[in-house]
Amino acid sequence: MSIRTVGILTGGGDCPGLNAVIRGVVRKGMAEHNYRFRGVMQGWKGMMECLWQPLGLEEISGILPKGGTILGTSRTNPFKDPDGGDIVVENMKRMKLDALIAVGGDDTLTVAHKLAEMGTPVVGVPKTIDNDINHTDYTFGFDTAVNIVAEALDRIHTTAESHNRVMVVEVMGRHTGWIATHAGIAGGADIILIPEQKHSIADTVEIIRKRHDRGKNFSIVVVAEGVKIEDADVVAESGRDEFGHVMLGGVGHLIGKEIEKRIGFETRVTVLGHLQRGGTPTAFDRVLGTRFGIAAVELVAAEDFGKMVSLQGNEIVAISLADAIGTVKEVDRELFDIARVFFG
Ligand code: F6P
Repeated sequence: MSIRTVGILTGGGDCPGLNAVIRGVVRKGMAEHNYRFRGVMQGWKGMMECLWQPLGLEEISGILPKGGTILGTSRTNPFKDPDGGDIVVENMKRMKLDALIAVGGDDTLTVAHKLAEMGTPVVGVPKTIDNDINHTDYTFGFDTAVNIVAEALDRIHTTAESHNRVMVVEVMGRHTGWIATHAGIAGGADIILIPEQKHSIADTVEIIRKRHDRGKNFSIVVVAEGVKIEDADVVAESGRDEFGHVMLGGVGHLIGKEIEKRIGFETRVTVLGHLQRGGTPTAFDRVLGTRFGIAAVELVAAEDFGKMVSLQGNEIVAISLADAIGTVKEVDRELFDIARVFFG
């Protein structure tokens, strides 16, 4: 098959580094393979509704340091519609796409995998600030989010210390605690609570008490939004998205209240929310996004479809989409044990 026109879409939550991928794809694909690119707008919504724009050198000029995605994004799941898969395949033809590069997290990549199984020439690029995609050591966006949280923790420290307060800082990460653990280590958290570990308010309060006993009268508690607490009802879910995922946010307030109630120290809560996803990507994320984009074009050129690019060690390799999707990559015990050394 001769490939002439390639589509690229970005799906799911936006993430710093997406524009680096788009730029890498277009620059490499135009220069070395003479491809023509079409930017599919708003993720899978664009494939369902034929929303696209031409993507050439002019469109990608100056986008490397920009956060978000110039193509827009959505959490649309085509397979919610029984005919969704066929509609996407039909629209590939209508948009004259010979191949498609789908950049996204587990949801976007699961759709890509289903389409690949239907014979669609698609390759995936993993993306998420949560860093929870299997078989890739890192995803771009994560480093930026960690740096934003670490800087916030530095700032929280000075006000915590001035007021002798317990400061609870809630961070994103959905069902994993990668952002909480990395940023907590980098920002000197006194306790980190993540979904992968068992936690209780009793233990948390005990750690804070011991810390105060040794003369420290402020504490920083980093909380991953998806954490579960054994001895308190602190579930903060506000519904489900199109892929059936719970929408999280607010657990920090519930935990903060419980801490204050049980220990009596004045407590304040900061929810960092979408600040973690916005703005310019770090150099690391720009480089990783660029490497992923270039590797994705190479997969298209090799007609090696149904695959996803991934970072293993310092190598970019291709793995089957089927291997990457469906389960989350959890924070490993050894890493959390390093964080634990500094608790209290
Ligand atoms: O998956 C990325 C992420 O930022 C999660 O950490 C968070 O739970 C979720 O997306 C928030 O989604 P939305 O932007 O749709 O509220």
